[in-house]
Amino acid sequence: MKTNIIGSSAAITSVLSLVSKVASNDVTVLITGESGTGKEMVAETILQQSPRKGRPFLKMNCAAIPSELLESQMFGHERGAFTGAVSRQEGCFERADTGALFLDEIGDMAMMTQTKLLRVLQEQEFERIGGNETIHVDVRIMAATNKNLLEEIKRGRFREDLYYRLNVVEIHIPPLRERMDDLPELVENFVREFNVKYNKPGLALSAQALQTLLNYAWPGNIRELRNVIERSIVLSRSMLIEPDDFPEKIRQPSIMPGENNDSERILTLDEMECMYVKKVLEYAGGNKLKAARLLNIDPKTLRTKLG
Ligand SMILES: Nc1ncnc2c1ncn2[C@@H]1O[C@H](COP(=O)(O)OP(=O)(O)OP(=O)(O)O)[C@@H](O)[C@H]1O
Ligand SMILES: [Mg+2]
Repeated sequence: MKTNIIGSSAAITSVLSLVSKVASNDVTVLITGESGTGKEMVAETILQQSPRKGRPFLKMNCAAIPSELLESQMFGHERGAFTGAVSRQEGCFERADTGALFLDEIGDMAMMTQTKLLRVLQEQEFERIGGNETIHVDVRIMAATNKNLLEEIKRGRFREDLYYRLNVVEIHIPPLRERMDDLPELVENFVREFNVKYNKPGLALSAQALQTLLNYAWPGNIRELRNVIERSIVLSRSMLIEPDDFPEKIRQPSIMPGENNDSERILTLDEMECMYVKKVLEYAGGNKLKAARLLNIDPKTLRTKLG
């Protein structure tokens, strides 16, 4: 099975197995996951593995453009349909005929547009804006969102019927912090990629640098990781990337729940203090006297604080 999706954690393996199952038939898929988890990549992989491979594949970002413009881009318009419509324009549904359409950030689509989309999903037909001719198309739909659509439905911002139409199969991509087993493999691949791109063969990460990356919670997921690796390779002046080559926020320990994969709760002040004392001791090269001086406490207190 060909894929560019890197990772061998249980989580990503089950995503990949779902991908190959849905690829072979035209079922509509909803791809969910936080920003930067690889939703677009999954959609591309599905297409690559499907019989529609090589057919038109169009992507629309439903959040980036105002709804009138989005509708005109989706369904097209006839000449004179609105001011500025100087000629007939085919929309994405027509251009993607026999292929697939990826509707990114579907959770941000306006209600009116959702209603029109629902009809295309149900009937595979629509009219261009300002037109009477009904156009039939054969388009596979994949949609993605980083929003919780059930929550959006509750708030009256997303049509429930559209949700069930789109969500025939949901592929959820877990955040990177829940599959940190994949991190070393991702890092290795990104290092190799940027070694070539920036002509810095042999440039690698030190063990501490890798550990620093493992301690961070990656709110921006794989996109953020890729950017951090790229940046450190571009800026590095030696053959080994050290923690210092990463932006400061990557190097800071996470203390709030959800910021770190292994701290699911708020630390008590004692625990926080103990963690800080250990950090300072590490910084002082294990020298307790020096650590006590830095902390402005006496060495006896330091010993009790270390427990
Ligand atoms: N498993 C993976 N292996 C390799 N690269 C990955 C993987 N997942 C994501 N990437 C890379 O991370 C970046 C972000 O991926 P992608 O654009 O697919 O994420 P997304 O979920 O669509 O993000 P957003 O919600 O911000 O649109 C891309 O450069 C992609 O190549
Ligand atoms: Mg995306």
